[in-house]
Amino acid sequence: MRLDRFLSNLPQFNRKQVRLLLIEKRVQVDDQIISDPHHEVRAFSRVECDGQLLQVGKPARYFMLHKPTGCVSATQDPHHPTVLDLLDEPDKDDLHIAGRLDFNTSGLMLITNDGHWSRQVTQPETKLPKVYYVETEDVITDAYAVTFKQGIYFAFEDLTTQPAQLHLLGPRCARLSIVEGRYHQVKRMFGYFNNKVVRLHRERIGSLNLDEQLAPGQYRSLTAQEVELF
Ligand code: URA
Repeated sequence: MRLDRFLSNLPQFNRKQVRLLLIEKRVQVDDQIISDPHHEVRAFSRVECDGQLLQVGKPARYFMLHKPTGCVSATQDPHHPTVLDLLDEPDKDDLHIAGRLDFNTSGLMLITNDGHWSRQVTQPETKLPKVYYVETEDVITDAYAVTFKQGIYFAFEDLTTQPAQLHLLGPRCARLSIVEGRYHQVKRMFGYFNNKVVRLHRERIGSLNLDEQLAPGQYRSLTAQEVELF
């Protein structure tokens, strides 16, 4: 919400007073004097006026989880454990997943209560690379890298996938970097060659790697520097 609206919604200030408070530089958001009435006040912002606290700001929470296979990337599921079941945290209803993985996919998953941050992670415009380790049923030929780089037409969405990079690691395993997150994207890309993905593991999102110390099912908070990566 805009700062001027936030302030004038409070019982103690009318709109004229709000204008003056801002001009007189009496308002601080997150310890900075703010006079711009359009400044965005979030649920996480700490807001003060003349040193008096108007909003504490709720703590923003950011976690990385090593998602194991056999669990659902959802907040609730009637039949299977969900990734949120793996978190031992208060107020789990506030948390959401930034970028889903399929039931049988393992690897890096980000969970937060900060919607603005998770949009940065997931929106296609930011073109963050997502890096996957892939194992397939059949041999991966050189043609795959060429086709993945050109893009593959997905009829259902009526779009061509963004250029993706494939590095062969063995006859049936590779590392694939994609910048989108279409539904079952990796499986569908290999499906173009009728090659079934038998193991899929997300190693990295942007420049954030899955912490090797985390066993499947374990998680930890992100550091402030890691949060800033997005
Ligand atoms: N692509 C897939 O097909 N599945 C995933 O879980 C992630 C990317």
